[in-house]
Amino acid sequence: MVKTMATSAQHPPGAPAWAPAPAPAPAELDAGTLRQAFGAYPTGVVAISALRGNEPVGFAASSFVSISLQPPMAAVSVARTSTTWPLLAEASVLGLSVLSHGQGALCRRLASRDGNRFDGVSWQPTAEGAVLIEDAALWLTARVNAVYDGGDHEIVLMELLTAELFSGVEPLVFHTSQFRELIPHG
Ligand SMILES: Cc1cc2nc3c(=O)[nH]c(=O)nc-3n(C[C@H](O)[C@H](O)[C@H](O)COP(=O)(O)O)c2cc1C
Repeated sequence: MVKTMATSAQHPPGAPAWAPAPAPAPAELDAGTLRQAFGAYPTGVVAISALRGNEPVGFAASSFVSISLQPPMAAVSVARTSTTWPLLAEASVLGLSVLSHGQGALCRRLASRDGNRFDGVSWQPTAEGAVLIEDAALWLTARVNAVYDGGDHEIVLMELLTAELFSGVEPLVFHTSQFRELIPHG
């Protein structure tokens, strides 16, 4: 079944019937629809963490995306309202832990606004002050390379420094606001 797009854009008067309708103004895409649309795209979740003094600070992010192989780069989009990002932005090296399939509750913990996020979370520091979460599927360390405007978010481009892959550890999948697991196809 072909679904039509939910838009109220009309052909301008006098435009030929074959002409594509103009793109709707961005204001017509309401936040609720957009949230659902973004949520329909499955992602993993990365814990971005570093030491501040002797204490770990960090948060969970599903917007992690690979960018470049040479030089090695990745990016994440960070809400401008984040209170943790300004602390992390001061760290010289960040730890990025791709959470594994059993770490859904831990992910919620690392996103919560109540209490100490790292209570009950096993982690280890690197010599440079990055923080890596135990039992993750992948560990990366990175340095912030540039920050770009991303509307109500900032796009943080990072240069990747190290990667440690735990083969056989399945990642956590985030889709339609739920944590899921990968199932092999076929
Ligand atoms: C599954 C999941 C994915 C998230 N992804 C992002 C993200 O990509 N970017 C972001 O800024 N916040 C994301 N958050 C929210 C942050 O983890 C955190 O709750 C938010 O930054 C508010 O806390 P803070 O003020 O300490 O930063 C996500 C939360 C969850 C549960």
